[in-house]
Amino acid sequence: MSSWLNDGIEAAVNKVRAQASRGGDFPHITEAGQWCTTPDGVWTGGFWAGLLWLSYEEQKSDALLAAAVSFTERLLPRASDPVNHDLGFMFYPSAIKGWRLTGDERYFQAALTAANSLAGQFNPQGGFIPGWGFFGSEDWSGSVLIDTLMNLPLLVWAVNHGADAQLLEVVQRHTKTALANHQREDGSVFHVYKFNTADGTPIAGDTYQGLDASSAWSRGQGWALAGLAMLADMTGSQEYFAAAQRVADYVEKHLPEDRVPPWDYSADGVPVKDSSAGAITAYGLIRLWELSSDARHLALAEAMLKALCEDCLASDDRAPILAHATADLPHGLGIDESVIYGDYYFLKALLTLRGIKEQNRQRGSGAQGSLAQTSNG
Ligand code: GLY
Repeated sequence: MSSWLNDGIEAAVNKVRAQASRGGDFPHITEAGQWCTTPDGVWTGGFWAGLLWLSYEEQKSDALLAAAVSFTERLLPRASDPVNHDLGFMFYPSAIKGWRLTGDERYFQAALTAANSLAGQFNPQGGFIPGWGFFGSEDWSGSVLIDTLMNLPLLVWAVNHGADAQLLEVVQRHTKTALANHQREDGSVFHVYKFNTADGTPIAGDTYQGLDASSAWSRGQGWALAGLAMLADMTGSQEYFAAAQRVADYVEKHLPEDRVPPWDYSADGVPVKDSSAGAITAYGLIRLWELSSDARHLALAEAMLKALCEDCLASDDRAPILAHATADLPHGLGIDESVIYGDYYFLKALLTLRGIKEQNRQRGSGAQGSLAQTSNG
């Protein structure tokens, strides 16, 4: 097994373990290398709880279990959030994973509630779940974010676990809208697409965190690729699979030689990276390879993760796992810093890759087919 892979997993889990007993609030993004925390987990609390569950699964320490339970329980009241398109991010890595590992029924029920809350935000005229409600006095309820695709697996999971089948219709209608409007000819995706809130007519592509409306914000490409690959896996849709392949082709064409995405693929000459886009994209490529059996997808994921291990690990005196992430460059937030979602998908992708390699070794073959079925949690 590659030493960079095992070393990367060990480094990541040790970082989580070192932070597990410090209590406090949810790590979100860093400023000058130090975590800024949030008391309720804003949209990212599920990733910290998820890192604790993944690390507990790896090392089975009481401290990791206690922290995973504590942070998951702090998120449970958020299951009824009425305006929050990120409920999948909040509840899949935390409550669903915690339920799978402990069997705690409260986590299962909270995940079902979160799925219903997410589906309850669906705009039937437009066929989408909006990204935001109001920012101050500005109405963003007609803006649909590409990130939402990565939240929809929560709805499919819920239907598979007894929720109303109408939730699947929400998944199908939202994804149809996103594929018709967000995805461009070259396979890349808009970060935001704006719709008329009253009748749902499409208006135009836009961005919030990218360079400009027509640019390819790199984390957005990662959310689209991973979200579509997961949805294709969970629903069997060839259309989602083909759309995920088109995003992967775009990324492969535009990724620089060092295999770490720039903050926006269209931002020529600005030397700012986003390691979190690298981690999310690599995870998406692995999920895509499980469906495509295309060696290119796995090779690219592996190259991207190796680059993160070799060039982007935060130093030992810093709490986060990955450095060189960019949260939101246009608004001056977390530029060349760390973000908790980057840390989560980095460890998740490394563990998934290790599982594939172990299965392939046991079966005595190369990584040529869909040998490993991973779980979303
Ligand atoms: N979902 C928001 C972001 O990726 O920053």
